[in-house]
Amino acid sequence: MKKSFSILFLAFIQILTVNVWAVNPTNRQRLLMDYNWKFIQSDVKDAEKVEFDDVQWRTLNLPHDWSIEGEFKEDALSQGSGGYLPTGIGWYRRHFKVSSIEKNQQFGIEFDGVYMNSDVWINGHHLGKHPYGYTGFVYDLTPYIRKEGNTIAVRIDNSLQLSSRWYTGSGIYRHVWLNSSAPVHIVQCGTYITTPKVDSIAATITVRTSVENSLSIPKKMILRSVVLDRDGKEIARGEMPVLITSSGKEEIEQSIQVISPSLWSVDHPVLYTLNSYLIEGTKEIDNYTSSFGIRTIGYDKDKGFLLNGKHLKMNGVCLHHDAGCLGAAVPEQAWVRRLQSLKEMGCNAIRTSHNPVAPEFLDLCDKMGFLVMDEIFDEWVEKKAPEYGYHKYFAENAQSDLISMIHRDRNHPSIVLWSAGNEVPDQVKENGSETLRKLIETFHKEDPTRPVTQANDHIAAGDGPAKLPFLEMQDIVGYNYVDRWRERRELYYSIDRHDHPNWRMIGTENTSVPGIRGQYALQTDQSDKRPGRSKDYRLNMIQAEQLWKFTAVNDYVIGDFMWTGIDYLGEARWPNKNSSSGVIDLCGFPKDGYYFYQSQWTTKPMVHLFPHWNWKGHEGQVIAVIAYSNCDSVELFLNGKSFGIKSSVFPQQGVSKEWNTYEHPFVPATTSDLHLSWDVPYEPGILKAVGRKGGKSISEEVHTTSNPLAIRLSADRKEIGADAQDIANIKVEIVDENGFVVPTADNLIEFKVEGEGALIGTDNGNPQDKTQMKSKQRSAFNGLALAVIQSTRKRGSIHVRAVSAGLKDADIEVTSHKAFNGLKTLE
Ligand code: GAL
Repeated sequence: MKKSFSILFLAFIQILTVNVWAVNPTNRQRLLMDYNWKFIQSDVKDAEKVEFDDVQWRTLNLPHDWSIEGEFKEDALSQGSGGYLPTGIGWYRRHFKVSSIEKNQQFGIEFDGVYMNSDVWINGHHLGKHPYGYTGFVYDLTPYIRKEGNTIAVRIDNSLQLSSRWYTGSGIYRHVWLNSSAPVHIVQCGTYITTPKVDSIAATITVRTSVENSLSIPKKMILRSVVLDRDGKEIARGEMPVLITSSGKEEIEQSIQVISPSLWSVDHPVLYTLNSYLIEGTKEIDNYTSSFGIRTIGYDKDKGFLLNGKHLKMNGVCLHHDAGCLGAAVPEQAWVRRLQSLKEMGCNAIRTSHNPVAPEFLDLCDKMGFLVMDEIFDEWVEKKAPEYGYHKYFAENAQSDLISMIHRDRNHPSIVLWSAGNEVPDQVKENGSETLRKLIETFHKEDPTRPVTQANDHIAAGDGPAKLPFLEMQDIVGYNYVDRWRERRELYYSIDRHDHPNWRMIGTENTSVPGIRGQYALQTDQSDKRPGRSKDYRLNMIQAEQLWKFTAVNDYVIGDFMWTGIDYLGEARWPNKNSSSGVIDLCGFPKDGYYFYQSQWTTKPMVHLFPHWNWKGHEGQVIAVIAYSNCDSVELFLNGKSFGIKSSVFPQQGVSKEWNTYEHPFVPATTSDLHLSWDVPYEPGILKAVGRKGGKSISEEVHTTSNPLAIRLSADRKEIGADAQDIANIKVEIVDENGFVVPTADNLIEFKVEGEGALIGTDNGNPQDKTQMKSKQRSAFNGLALAVIQSTRKRGSIHVRAVSAGLKDADIEVTSHKAFNGLKTLE
């Protein structure tokens, strides 16, 4: 039942703020339940029973991924898809007490993500089964919870392989929460906030709040919804009486005005808070906090995407959910570092390929200003390669998984587009449209404010194209590898633009600039003929730049999401364990391709030069030197001698008013490519690129180095929270006597960590390095390596020492303080 509420004005609001109400002891609590779980990596009989003895099991904290702890083995059941890591069956158990249980107090356990096929029990009672590894789920504990002690048991079955085309991880790899509330309460994810009317004078906020009454008598209450600005100051509120029937649920709609709203955008990601209160008489019965943003989105068939009425091209990347050596159990700070790096590249949009991500990932996108295409499935009814992929569960679970994702995610201002699937084979089947129709109906019903796309890879396919009704049903038609099929290599979207002028089109997935960080072969390699697969440093940008030129100048193309922003585990062929399609490696270190996008997506003058300049034995040999830059021109010098000024002009300026007059200073172009290149006979020394832009110049140098002499350590954060969750990323550089990183160094390093922290992963970005990800020893790869340190729950200092035979060792200190996140925890 829906109720509407009239607009409230600020003057009226002022009067109401003086109200105070008592806090009821059964108020909502949300406790992080990550600590002190017992774990065993095998199947065990009777482990769901309370009396089962788990003393011998390992004690650990969540999030936890047992796959990433294992060895890479060529005969692993997960094969290349799963990065050759172990899968199997595991059990977790958690014992806990609650300090008091009030009459009718409600308890629930919430899992943010468990991979996969989990069964959960409390005190021997089976709560349910949840197959999909990426959607969150909640169980009601109220009838079973006991004050004197409780046991939660979780069995996870990831033994049926392949279950995925990429690395999934195994275990309770996201957070777990113990929630409690009064018998009359706001449902978890039970606020739905939209901004139907927005202008600079005022925004109308519509809040739909779901309230549940688990009592056998009806209840009359006040629902008070208070909007706070980013400084925590109340700026508006709505209040209305509600009657919730016995054992019933109501959805209440309120409309609140915010005067002079600050709009959320990728450059100014302003967030508001909504505090929802249920009040009975003078007593606060429940309170629930939600975050939201005020912004408008629009998709125009000619102008593309509009954020707050302004055209914005989506400079997007696709991302999988793992984070290299941390596997699928990814601390929030790992994403902070990765997202910051993407932001500096000029990326403004992320596709969560091909599944729902952790809730905190979306919070970060809200805060840091990324647009998100939120995707739900990689398979529907039709099977892809994995025998045990989602097609096994689609019929039974798709609807509930989809609703759970939409309800969890729909308040995020960052999410601007839903994606119903990725390259589903259903696109070419007769009944595919019917499946899509049902999914779209659910999206539209649960969230009418965002359009729905599907990532189609068979538009115009030679071996059976996607069905027209299937494409026409999509609010936005998603193109994966738009240049793959036949003549579209040069024409991209234009054929469909001509044939279907009303379609709105987006590049859901396209080729990036792939390759392995710091790896350069002097011999040109064209052996891999698959489009976009060349790892040759002279060629690997060609396909991406052709496509980007088209995307950039055609406004109707909403944007592009390249595959991928960051390397990910799995989807590899032995001896590789990971895919190297990213422009950032598994350690978070940028590759050359990163700078290609930066040169196209940012305006602050930059120039990036490659390859390295350590080519002993190749003196006199001509080497292609390449620069990515957003400057007007770049001049290259070797040991002070100029090799000429080059400039790529894109898009070209036409003559403005009269013949031979230009709006901006005319720059003579030496190429229509988006990269610059020089042929330089090798001699050791200093390569220097000088970029000039609007009267300013910047430069970058690449030095021939001498031999490795020392280790250099740096930390992305010197102060972290003492919560056994927070991390610092320690970058390891192998340097020569002048402090230059030796670009070919592969010295073996050993890490020693002392104090209130632990080493939780090491890596170097080399797809062929199959040293275990938790190893204390790691070779550098092309001069670099990474060590990830996690705090304990005790404050103190964490000392990291890196040693290597023949090199000067290095130390670094990180301090952990009181946890920053302020979360309440279940002990
Ligand atoms: C795409 C697919 C991605 C990934 C990629 C590898 O077709 O959507 O998930 O498999 O190919 O190139």
